[in-house]
Amino acid sequence: MTQPHPTFMIRHIPIYGEAMLAPLAGYSDKPYRLICRECGSAMSYTEFVAVEGILHGNNRTWQILQFDPVERPIVMQIFGQDEQKIEEAARRLEQLGPDIIDLNMGCSVPKVSARGEGAGLLKDPAKIGRIFARLTRVLSVPVTGKIRLGWDSHSLNYVEVAKIMEDNGAALIAVHGRTKQQGYNIPANWQAIGEVKQAVKIPVIGNGDVKVVADIAQMKDMTGCDGVMIGRAAIGNPWIFQGKDIQEVTLSEKTEIIYRHLDLMVNFYGSRGLVLFRKHVIKYMRGLTNIAHFRTKLMVATHPEEFVALVQEYESAQI
Ligand SMILES: Cc1cc2nc3c(=O)[nH]c(=O)nc-3n(C[C@H](O)[C@H](O)[C@H](O)COP(=O)(O)O)c2cc1C
Repeated sequence: MTQPHPTFMIRHIPIYGEAMLAPLAGYSDKPYRLICRECGSAMSYTEFVAVEGILHGNNRTWQILQFDPVERPIVMQIFGQDEQKIEEAARRLEQLGPDIIDLNMGCSVPKVSARGEGAGLLKDPAKIGRIFARLTRVLSVPVTGKIRLGWDSHSLNYVEVAKIMEDNGAALIAVHGRTKQQGYNIPANWQAIGEVKQAVKIPVIGNGDVKVVADIAQMKDMTGCDGVMIGRAAIGNPWIFQGKDIQEVTLSEKTEIIYRHLDLMVNFYGSRGLVLFRKHVIKYMRGLTNIAHFRTKLMVATHPEEFVALVQEYESAQI
């Protein structure tokens, strides 16, 4: 059988498929990454982890970093600002067997960015260069980074940052088309993603406001990017990776994924799994008819069996 042609390469790693789940703290855990990967997401990014968490071995950090081999290529994403600590944490991370290590330069949350971490790093492109030089010298796995367009509209330095990353050995750049100050609400600037693609030879993943399947091709056409990363629109809609918009998904397809996802959550988190699953359920249920009454009951279900029975009751009531 002939191997399909990879969509793009991250150094020696072939990527099959053009769309992938974005790193999403609180959502892109092992269970949800598996669901998305099974639906066709081209690779897996962990939620970001603090370098301090890695160095001090906190339990939550190790949980975030767990992955299933079927997820490969798996990207472990870190954030921090201390160059020495970033290097040390990345060395330790490499022992866990990721395919790629990624540096977060996009987090806009004040408690991260105000400390010079996440998007805070964009204020110091020379430091970004030093970090990439260090990481690419000491690690064998490819090192990649995810950026925003700059700190604010007065410091749009995405092309400069992208070139510095490339010059210092980065294997890929993911670009979220907004500044730190723009948060999440104003429309993402796809043209800027195209400028990054023009400026570097390494692959570029575009990100920001891909909401429906047609947006994937549109972002690729408009920017020339190699891959497209989907964040919020993939929560409650893993089918976007199958090329299906949410209104095309049948109730039985939804319930099948709900059962599979619940099972993965309970296996992964134990008794906390059902409670942690609630935020996903809310998203899966969007747009379903006559759901309000069941949703209230689902939110207070205390056992997976009770939850499944309620979903079955809802499903039979719709026939
Ligand atoms: C709840 C939430 C958590 C996020 N966590 C991360 C993260 O851990 N690492 C990261 O690089 N970006 C993170 N992001 C940013 C997303 O990866 C993505 O860049 C952003 O949501 C824009 O893409 P979208 O318009 O497709 O949602 C997060 C975004 C949201 C909404």
